[in-house]
Amino acid sequence: MGTETSGAAGQVAAEQQAREKDLVDKVVASFETAQDPRLKQLMQALTRHLHAFLREVRLTEAEWDAAIRFLTAAGHITDDKRQEFILLSDVLGASMQTIAINNEAYANATEATVLGPFFVEGSPEIPLGGDMSFGAAGQPCWVEGTVTDTDGKPVPGARMEVWEADEDGFYDVQYDDDRTAARGHLFSDETGTYRFWAITPTPYPIPHDGPVGALLAAVGRSPMRASHLHFDVRAEGRRTLITHIFVRGDELLGRDAVFGVKDSLIHDFVEHPAGTPAPDGRDLAGRSWSSVRFDIVLAPADTAGPGIASDDRSL
Ligand code: BEZ
Ligand code: FE
Repeated sequence: MGTETSGAAGQVAAEQQAREKDLVDKVVASFETAQDPRLKQLMQALTRHLHAFLREVRLTEAEWDAAIRFLTAAGHITDDKRQEFILLSDVLGASMQTIAINNEAYANATEATVLGPFFVEGSPEIPLGGDMSFGAAGQPCWVEGTVTDTDGKPVPGARMEVWEADEDGFYDVQYDDDRTAARGHLFSDETGTYRFWAITPTPYPIPHDGPVGALLAAVGRSPMRASHLHFDVRAEGRRTLITHIFVRGDELLGRDAVFGVKDSLIHDFVEHPAGTPAPDGRDLAGRSWSSVRFDIVLAPADTAGPGIASDDRSL
C-alpha cells in the first residue's frame, strides 16, 4: 500500500482518485454474494463510509498502525467484567446514536439513554419500599413514582431493574470481592406505583485506565459521567425502557462523557436534613437523606424500541 501524502482529498490527482474509487467499487462488489440482504447492506455501506473516511483524512500508514494497536489494546483489556468496546462506542456517541435511531420519541413516553457496561443479570429482588443499596456507601435516597402507559393507565407488575455506583464512584462489579450492592429489581404494584431506597447518585469517571481513557486524555476530554441512577423497565405489551435519572444542578450535566443526558431525565433530588422523618418511618440513624420522584411512561411494544429494527415496526 503506497502512502498518500498529497493532503486533502480535493488535491488528489484524478488518476489517483480513479484508482482509489476503483478499489472501493471492488470491495463493495465483493459483498454481492451475501445471502442475507441486511448483512450485504451493512457491509457495503460500511465499506463506502470507511473508505470515504480513509480518503478524506488521507490516512497515513503510521496512523493505521496506531489504530490497529489501539483496537488490539482494547481487546486485551476486555474480559467478562471490563468491556472496552462498549466504552469506545459510548465515548464516540455511537451508543447514544443507536439508541436515538431505535427509540423514536413516542407521545409522552419516557426517553431512553445508554445502558453502560455495569448492568448484571440476576440482581436480587427487593420488596416495594426495600433497599437496593445492600450496604453500598452513600446517602440514603428514597425513590418513588408510577409506571403508566402513554394514556396514563397504570402498568402493574412492571419489572424494574435499578443499579448505580456507590459514593466512591464504583459499581459493585468493579470491586474484587464479588459483592452485590447498589443493584436490585422490584415490581410495580397493582396501582402501577413503586418505591424503594437507593443511594443519592454521585458523579464518577468511566473506567479510564485503558486505551479509551488514553484517547480521552489525548483529546482533552474528561471521563466523568453526570450523577445518575439506572433503570431497565419491562412490562407485557410495552416497549422496554433503558434509561437513567440525572440530578438537577449537577455541574456535569452539560459534559457527560458518553452524551447520555436528556433534559427530560433530569430530576429534582430533594435534600432532607438529619432528623427529618422518612416516608416509610425508616430509622436513618441520624443521617440526612434525599428523595426523588420519577414517573415512568412506557410506549406500546409495537413502536421502535431496543432490538426492534425500524422495518419491523407497525406505527
Ligand atoms: C454507566 O453509566 O454505567 C456507564 C455508561 C457508559 C460508560 C461507562 C459507564
Ligand atoms: Fe452508570
